Amino acid sequence: MKGNWVLVSKLFDETEIARRVEELAREIAVAVAGDFAIVGLLTGSFVFVADLIRVLDRAGLAPRIEFMKLSSYGHGKESSGAPRLIGGAPEDVAGRRFLLVDDIVDTGRTLDYAKSLLAGKGAARVWTCALVDKPSRRKIDFAADFVGFTVDDVFIVGYGIDYAENYRHLPYIGIID
Ligand code: IMP
Ligand code: MG
Repeated sequence: MKGNWVLVSKLFDETEIARRVEELAREIAVAVAGDFAIVGLLTGSFVFVADLIRVLDRAGLAPRIEFMKLSSYGHGKESSGAPRLIGGAPEDVAGRRFLLVDDIVDTGRTLDYAKSLLAGKGAARVWTCALVDKPSRRKIDFAADFVGFTVDDVFIVGYGIDYAENYRHLPYIGIID
């Protein structure tokens, strides 16, 4: 099985990721203090959300955790058009504060769309957070409020992030060609 896989070169190891998630949680605790819900975008954010919420707990925050699934990626490396909601949407959005969490901001369309979806349902405030930002790939004017790492135009996998549904299990983040 593993023999068929292409080479993954390590970019951020487990220690670096853990350290950066700790720092992010501290930034979030200061900026988003109070009552809020995390909405993770499936599937790529699931590992990041799982780590982030446990560090947030140590920072004294107790967000509710929800997920929603958007689709735009096919099985390639290029996003295939406009994101759309294909599963789960938080209920009772009106008047509540949200932190949207995704694995990567690439063109910016996914988080931007998710943010307008919650805003359109009357959210009181929506912050956005991505573990990895690829600013050189942006197709729209969008900036996440909290970003873990910034990378160039490379395709990454691991720590929940996939290529054609593979590699999500890797504990580190690596680049594939
Ligand atoms: P955007 O809508 O173009 O910003 O794309 C965001 C989504 O694209 C993320 O949720 C990722 O799932 C996916 N994506 C972008 N870059 C990569 C990558 O390097 N590896 C795996 N998925 C990626
Ligand atoms: Mg994704």
